[in-house]
Amino acid sequence: MKTTIALSSPSELEAEALVAVVLDYNEAKQDKNAKPQLKVATNDTAMQSAAADLLASGELTGKLFETNLLHKPAGLKGKRLLLVSGGSAKKFSTYELRRIAGTAVRTLKSRGIRSFALIAPSGIAADEAVRAIVEGAHVGNFDPDYYRSDRKDQKIDAITIVASGDKSALEKSAAEAQIIGESQNFTRDLVNEPSNRMTPTILGERAKKMCAEVGLKCEVYGADKIKELKMGAFWSVAQGSDEPPTLIVMKHEPAGAPEKPVLGLVGKGITFDTGGISIKPADGMEKMKYDMAGGATMIGAMRAIALLKTKIKVIGIVCATENMPSGKAQKPGDVQIAMSGKSIEVINTDAEGRLVLADGLHYAKQLGATNLVDAATLTGAVVVALGYTNAGIFTNDDKMYERFHAANERAGEKMWRLPVDDEYMEQIRSTIADIMNTGGRWGGAITAAMFLKEFAEDTPWIHLDIAGTAWMEDQKPWISKGPSGIALRSLIEFVKSFAA
Ligand code: BES
Ligand code: MN
Ligand code: ZN
Repeated sequence: MKTTIALSSPSELEAEALVAVVLDYNEAKQDKNAKPQLKVATNDTAMQSAAADLLASGELTGKLFETNLLHKPAGLKGKRLLLVSGGSAKKFSTYELRRIAGTAVRTLKSRGIRSFALIAPSGIAADEAVRAIVEGAHVGNFDPDYYRSDRKDQKIDAITIVASGDKSALEKSAAEAQIIGESQNFTRDLVNEPSNRMTPTILGERAKKMCAEVGLKCEVYGADKIKELKMGAFWSVAQGSDEPPTLIVMKHEPAGAPEKPVLGLVGKGITFDTGGISIKPADGMEKMKYDMAGGATMIGAMRAIALLKTKIKVIGIVCATENMPSGKAQKPGDVQIAMSGKSIEVINTDAEGRLVLADGLHYAKQLGATNLVDAATLTGAVVVALGYTNAGIFTNDDKMYERFHAANERAGEKMWRLPVDDEYMEQIRSTIADIMNTGGRWGGAITAAMFLKEFAEDTPWIHLDIAGTAWMEDQKPWISKGPSGIALRSLIEFVKSFAA
């Protein structure tokens, strides 16, 4: 998607469609029947008067994502005027703006329109508005219907953002946001592929190709290296599959970056999770093709970090394998020795994500990572706890949490912290080994995190459980059904915060 910044006045702009944000300025809504006070969020009077009759009609609710399309708007040069409501003016932020940009993209592209100009709403700093619009427009532009013969491949090719301020600074914001938006969609493309088309080998090839394009070092190792490194936990999952596993290692080591910190980004790359011998029920099992979303997020994040030339060392690691039942598969009760030397009693072969991550985290430390972040579709329990709205965030370091939380806010992604108190460890103590890979029914997302914490040890570490947020169960006005690309934007903001 081509993005252009225009400083011209909206009414002078020629465009297939102009898009403006409508806000409700009625702040004193004592009674809930009070009428909204709708206004276009701009100082441009021509724009305001083009929308005036519709806004005064009483036909609009002003609720978030309400859309109205006018043709030949009076007094404007744009062929169409799309009004998108942003809800209450008081609550309006870049969080809503991102989604409004996505809504505009999805509304217009489904009508065959290929370009539009969005008027940055007054009330949000122009550079932040530009970022949110460009990121949100990319999110809206993605559709997952790759294998439909009637795929229309409708995309918006170009957007213009009408804003005021220092043009070159705004262009820089737009260019950065474009890198982030494209990287998020790169991740979503990987996650969208079914397991027969996204094996660990193919995931490794895609990572390698991307790294070559953006100038990252990349190694893709196979079973031999995994065994040589004594990654007994990772291998215990991989051993049951005919599809060979891959260990993907990407390195961003820009000239002039400080020696420390070295950030280690570790992703769960289960290209299909049957559950193994502790097999999952058939109902809904097809969804387990997205069990590599954490890994895909790290690959996309490395892409963005390389293109943004962030002056900080980052290592990306993805442990990719299928989790299959077979004559070679591990069985409940088996004891495995992880790379760190810890022994694990495998109670349930379906708790495989933590096994591959245990070795991924340890390896990242061995490669020099001073701070760890992992992302994984790790537990159904996190969906019970937080639903589809917030990802779970767990950490052994409050400072790192503060930093990540600030990144969440800037990125417009919702994550909610859950505890990792020592008491929970009791649930995963084993009688035969150091630790069990499951901790019973209660607090399942937490006991999974406790397991990982045993491998992060003293290294500051953040764990993101994205099981409930990596896949959109339904489409929304601003995003299609399917892979969401959650966590990538926060990761980029987090990494950038170390370079600032
Ligand atoms: N990949 C699943 C978790 C998952 C569930 C992801 C739903 C996306 C949507 C994970 O490997 C798993 O199977 N977890 C088990 C752990 C249990 C056996 C302790 C779970 O959550 O049921
Ligand atoms: Mn599983
Ligand atoms: Zn899994």
